[in-house]
Amino acid sequence: MSKPHVLITCAVFPETIARLQRHFEVESNQDDAEWSPAELIRRLQGKQGAFTTGSVRIDEALLAACPDLKICANMAVGYNNFDVDAMARHGVTATNAPDVLTETTADFGFALLMATARRITESEHFLRRGEWKKWRYDMFAGAEIHGATLGILGMGRIGQGIARRGALGFGMNVIYHNRSRLDPALEAECRARYVGKEELLKSADHLVLVLPYSPSSHHAIGAAELAQMKPTATLVNIARGGIVDDAALAEALRNGTIAAAGLDVFEGEPTVLPALLTVPNVVLTPHIASATIPTRRAMAELAADNLVSFFEGKGPITPVLPAQGATK
Ligand code: GLV
Repeated sequence: MSKPHVLITCAVFPETIARLQRHFEVESNQDDAEWSPAELIRRLQGKQGAFTTGSVRIDEALLAACPDLKICANMAVGYNNFDVDAMARHGVTATNAPDVLTETTADFGFALLMATARRITESEHFLRRGEWKKWRYDMFAGAEIHGATLGILGMGRIGQGIARRGALGFGMNVIYHNRSRLDPALEAECRARYVGKEELLKSADHLVLVLPYSPSSHHAIGAAELAQMKPTATLVNIARGGIVDDAALAEALRNGTIAAAGLDVFEGEPTVLPALLTVPNVVLTPHIASATIPTRRAMAELAADNLVSFFEGKGPITPVLPAQGATK
């Protein structure tokens, strides 16, 4: 029996390719070439499976043009790059890579929070520019972390990991807002208190965004929300670009509406709004929250496992369903 054909749309670990080659006829993209939608459609002709990342858009036009496609396995927990309703209509299975990146991403969220609140990159740039001439009492004085109020918007697995780090590691007062409230046992374990969005915005000293992107979370943090935050507050986005109105944020950072921001994700990434590149009180990283080698290996492995299991007739391991909503 001939092997199914699978397209790997991005550069991956060589062992991931080797693993998939044992089961499938594989076309890979180790040069990480930027494929236009038309090029992607061309390469998907005759392919039954696709190994994707969060930047590969699978939409109605592509699905209509790729009738052989049966499954897309995302090497990411977020899957807003998939039009899951269109995939369901076309009978194409969608899978993501949850759980394996939870703790690593929560670590990074905390690292970005600390770098932002304690002005680490801003002060490093000052030092590198040779501007450090003497010690000064208020030089790069930032915001307190321990004992501060940590707000979390989106309380999936990663949000819970950040809550635990804040409460147990830094004695923070943790509040959160989510589509649905956690069950009381989990809330108690995370030492987190449920509040409305307005109270979250007003009370948080540090606000971390970990909610999935969807049309309903588009610009969940815009000028009006930023205006409700404390002028001393920091904002951290490790969720998705588009959840924050980046132009409004750049303005808020420039005029002191909030103190600082740490951003790992951007609207229209990898392009970053020029206004964000010129404000000093923002820490910018290129979408690396899950980037440790063990975690990236585990994500690749899970995406590959999904393809293998699906084509062996055992069903996908971590499917996403149209009604489910993307849970971070
Ligand atoms: C990264 O952003 C992911 O969704 O895995």
